[in-house]
Amino acid sequence: MERTEIKTALEKGKPGDEVTIAGWIKSVRESKSVGFIHLNDGSTFDSVQILVPAEFPGRQKILKQITGACLAVKGKLIASQGKGQTLELEPASIKVLGECDPSSPVQKAGTSFEFLRGAAHMRPRTNTFGAVFRVRAELSFAVHEFFRDRGFVMCHSPILTTSDCEGAGAMFQVSALDLENPPRGSDGKIDWSQDFFGEKCGLTVSGQLEAEILAMSLSKVYTFGPTFRAEQSTTPRHAAEFWMIEPEFAFADLKDDRALAEAFIKHLIKHLFKNCGRDLAFFDERVEKGLRAKLEAVAEADFGVITYTQAVEVLEKSGRKWDHPIFWGKDLQTEHERYLTEEYAKRPLFVIDYPRGFKPFYMYCNDDRKTVACMDLLVPRVGEIIGGSQREHRLDRLLARMKETGVSPETYSWYADLRRFGTAPHAGFGLGFERMLMYVTGMENIRDVELCPRVPGCAKF
Ligand code: 4AD
Ligand code: MG
Repeated sequence: MERTEIKTALEKGKPGDEVTIAGWIKSVRESKSVGFIHLNDGSTFDSVQILVPAEFPGRQKILKQITGACLAVKGKLIASQGKGQTLELEPASIKVLGECDPSSPVQKAGTSFEFLRGAAHMRPRTNTFGAVFRVRAELSFAVHEFFRDRGFVMCHSPILTTSDCEGAGAMFQVSALDLENPPRGSDGKIDWSQDFFGEKCGLTVSGQLEAEILAMSLSKVYTFGPTFRAEQSTTPRHAAEFWMIEPEFAFADLKDDRALAEAFIKHLIKHLFKNCGRDLAFFDERVEKGLRAKLEAVAEADFGVITYTQAVEVLEKSGRKWDHPIFWGKDLQTEHERYLTEEYAKRPLFVIDYPRGFKPFYMYCNDDRKTVACMDLLVPRVGEIIGGSQREHRLDRLLARMKETGVSPETYSWYADLRRFGTAPHAGFGLGFERMLMYVTGMENIRDVELCPRVPGCAKF
């Protein structure tokens, strides 16, 4: 179908241009004898205003259409007399492509995000969700731009895997066995050796370990893919399916890792300023007041750095009453993380060198033998958006840590080989894509930045 996208019409069109546009009605109203229709096709935040004069043929039927109905309009662009737009459309013909039943869940402006989660298939029609998904697409492009410009090679880590990278036991299991009637061994237990892969397999929780394979020959790589965690978390920051960006690079330590992460976050923000100005203005005005100024400051200022040990001191001296008491050796909880980044640092903050006891086996052990060379990047409101570390590249230390943490040397023999056959110091991190989206849009729930969120009890849409 020949048509002009609304973005093109509004940004490049001139009064007098003949165009056909198509889209969904945002609003219809009648004032005196003139009808006004706002039509949007998602190519940009703004809608085109269509003036329907009193004498327009078929006017009654057209103005009976409601928000959500789909129209194709042929006409002439004219300079707008009204406020809020420079061009509008004087129609020659209007065709109704799809009427909208009045039971549509996105009729009323101001419908709550929570309500719209129950209508996830319709919510992209709203201004907010249209903007979310345009920003999401642009952010994804900016990820690739950043790494490509720096010579990182993109790789696709597998989704089906036998390694539980984070060791948190939160893998979704994948099986081709008949689960109603699985083969059993003489001990009565399910015989997984008869399953498709000859052993237990699951959906990846992180593409890191496989990215390390490629980093040990191409030096600088990254993976950007879906990851899955079967955690029973119903917080606004956890999803069972989310996307992660994981660079992995050789000849690097934790300091290099931090520098890359900081440059990366700043690049993403600057890219959005350049390419998503209209959508960001909307989020600034309607979702998080002051968002633009906050992001501008983040793009320019240095991020803070603090060790876990120092962070615990800060928390102990804060004079706060914590729901979860904090002392050295206790993991930081959301309340602690938020205090550190929002009130103590008042900016993004790297917390580094955590006790090794609550971190996975692959992290580089510091000389103090108590802590590992890792980092969590905390940002105000969202909390942790990046987790990363220098990797343990010394074979003996790695094997010792695997033993200590109960990680199977058989399952990970290939991972140890990467150290056995020409090891190199290396580091990497993972940025939670949806958490970054929450940060740059002001959206407060991870379910509102995913097209079809996967959370406990919900995989409907
Ligand atoms: O800190 P995590 O668990 O680190 C890893 O998986 C490492 N293997 C990454 C690496 O070094 N290559 O997860 C990394 C990030 C977190 O900081 C968070 O932003 C996001 O992934 N994340 C989640 N996002 C949404 N829902 C969840 N359930 C998440 N779990 C982690
Ligand atoms: Mg983490």
